[in-house]
Amino acid sequence: MFTNVRLASLPAPGKLILTLFLAMIGAGYLFALGNLYHQHAGADGRDGLTIDDLRAVFHGMTVEGEPAAAGVSGVPRSRMMEMIEPGGKMRKHLNKGGPLAVRTLEAWLQRGASSDDWLRADPVEQGAPSPQDVIVAQCLDCHNAESGEKADAPFGPDLFTVDPAMVQVFAAPGTAKGPAPVGGAAKRLGPQPLAHLFLVTHIHMLSIPVFTLIVSGLFLLGDRRSTLRSVVAPLPMMALACDFSSWWLARTSDVFLHVIVIAGVVFAASLAIQLLGVFASIWSRRQSSDVAS
Ligand code: HEC
Repeated sequence: MFTNVRLASLPAPGKLILTLFLAMIGAGYLFALGNLYHQHAGADGRDGLTIDDLRAVFHGMTVEGEPAAAGVSGVPRSRMMEMIEPGGKMRKHLNKGGPLAVRTLEAWLQRGASSDDWLRADPVEQGAPSPQDVIVAQCLDCHNAESGEKADAPFGPDLFTVDPAMVQVFAAPGTAKGPAPVGGAAKRLGPQPLAHLFLVTHIHMLSIPVFTLIVSGLFLLGDRRSTLRSVVAPLPMMALACDFSSWWLARTSDVFLHVIVIAGVVFAASLAIQLLGVFASIWSRRQSSDVAS
């Protein structure tokens, strides 16, 4: 029924509109991937995006912290310790400094954040930084009073200067706000609150299928029906259905975490094929002689 419509015979403005539409959907999808990475990469308290990040968000998981980080040393926990321990909100920033930076800051805080050690690198660890080095390299960007994203909790007056007294406000023993994690260092992460799942589900469900329908529809309109085309056409919409339902099903069974991953890959691949296919149909040079079908 669609075979009489030829994307290639659209007038130039129509081709322009469709081409820009395809370009924006493609680029928008790449931005969505970037956003996904930044939102979820640290969800399990470790760097990088893995299935455990999905687990923490959609299913919930228990992480074993290194025992050393749990304040078992007898020194009352500091606010900084609770932020940088595994599962803490600042852990991902500290992780960027590498394992030596993590060990240095943890050890310093456990020993009570003494000012004697503030400038001292661990003599046993080759190439270890001092606590000050770690704070300057991993934290000061945001935690400075002048231009930081977290200027209300500064570790120094500006981007280049760290002030030990300011750091002590958060590093001093006993400044923690929450209780120490019970049972050593184990910590329960996620799943995300239901209210948030309702929010992201409705936003995604009411928007992504709309442009998916348009792209897949255009793809079907393209010249020459073929079996391949009929197989690829419904894939993105099917992947979305699997993806959205798995967000909810994953709360009960973590099998669906894998469905989320597979659905994401299928969606990305089939949508990319369709975007390119539609683009090719619009700009194809084949003349109306082969409209015959
Ligand atoms: C990208 C910016 C950024 C970086 C880098 C960063 N932080 Fe933070 N920090 C924040 C934000 C934002 C908050 C508020 C978080 C919240 O409460 O949800 C915060 C909160 C904190 C708090 C709690 C402050 C309070 O008022 O109780 C501490 C302590 C902390 N960060 C320590 C660190 C340490 C240590 C580092 C380096 C390893 C670091 N941060 C790196 C942005 C950053």
